[in-house]
Parts: sequence; C-alpha cells; structure tokens
Amino acid sequence: MVTWRARRQDLILSPPSPANPRFFMHIALYQPDIPQNTGTILRLGACMGVPVSIIEPCGFPFSDRGLKRASMDYLRQADISRHESWAAFLAVRPAGNRLVLATTGSELPYTEFAFASDDILLFGRESAGVPEAVHNAADARLIVPMRAETRSLNVAVAAAMVLGEALRQTSQFPGPAPRA
Ligand SMILES: C[S@@+](CC[C@H](N)C(=O)[O-])C[C@H]1O[C@@H](n2cnc3c(N)ncnc32)[C@H](O)[C@@H]1O
Repeated sequence: MVTWRARRQDLILSPPSPANPRFFMHIALYQPDIPQNTGTILRLGACMGVPVSIIEPCGFPFSDRGLKRASMDYLRQADISRHESWAAFLAVRPAGNRLVLATTGSELPYTEFAFASDDILLFGRESAGVPEAVHNAADARLIVPMRAETRSLNVAVAAAMVLGEALRQTSQFPGPAPRA
C-alpha cells in the first residue's frame, strides 16, 4: 500500500495532518483492465498535478509495455498509489473526501454537479464498470451525457472530461508553463 500524498501545498491554509487531513483532487481507477487507458490517465494526472490511485487487481501487470507506451516518460512524474483491494483503498481514504463516481448509470450530468477541491473522482473498469457495492458507496454519481444510440466513452476520455470540469470549477488547473 502506498500512502496518500498532498499536492500543491501552497494552496492550502494549513498542511494536511492526521488530525486535519485535507487533500486535493484525486483520481481513483477501479480495477482497470486496459493498460493503455491507465497509462493515458497516469499521463493526465502527471500533467494536471493530480494523484492517481489504482485499486487492484488490475487486468495487466504494472510492467506492461502498453502502459509504459501510453504514459511515456510521464510515468516518472505521476503520483501513483496502488491499493490491493477496494477494502484496502477505503481503509486509507481520508475521511471527509467525497467519492464521486463517473458512471453511465447516473442521470446527473457532471456539469451540473458542484465539485469540491478535494473530491476523489472514481472511474470503473473498462469491461464492467463497478459492482453495485462500489456504486452504492459513492457520495455522488455523475454521467457525461451521450447520444442515446451510444453505450459509453473510453474511460480515459471520461476521466479527462470530468477532471477538466472539476479542476475548472475549483480553480485548480496548473498555472501556464513558462515560455522558453
Ligand atoms: C468503458 S466504461 C464501462 C462500461 C461498462 N460496460 C459499464 O456498464 O459500466 C469504463 C468507465 O468509464 C467511465 N465512463 C464511460 N462513459 C461514461 C459516461 N458517459 N459518463 C460517466 N462515466 C463514464 C465510467 O467510470 C465507466 O465505469
């Protein structure tokens, strides 16, 4: 198990501590099974400064070439924590941080939801989403509205859309890169 880490401490009033655990936006992937998608999301997290939790078991070894190819050298910059099970993830989840599940089984559009700066954005596995227990454990469930004729988005695309809106609402996009 890897511990949760706070990011961009300059933005918080007091540093997080066991008595005052305050963390910034976080992505969590429930049992991902396509390495290229996980790699793409790890790159997204690295570029946005958002930590990514991976809830095992994954459908691939972490050394997978597809994961490395998709995340490229951003893997070194990614803030990754791996949890051996859903129960292990819940055990270290800081109290007070909402679990916000992205799911096609919701009717609440993500653009109508008021994100908090320390929400945990949870995404399901490519093959099966999340089981009912995980669905019910979420504090909120959001959908990216789609045309009725379609089934779902690629999980990395859904993650980029939901994270983008969450960062926009909470003014947490990283500052512009310095010009060369
Ligand atoms: C390929 S989808 C899973 C499809 C799966 N058959 C199901 O029924 O959930 C993988 C994950 O991407 C996210 N996702 C995909 N499309 C979405 C949408 N339109 N709204 C919200 N989340 C979506 C969800 O987290 C989902 O669990």
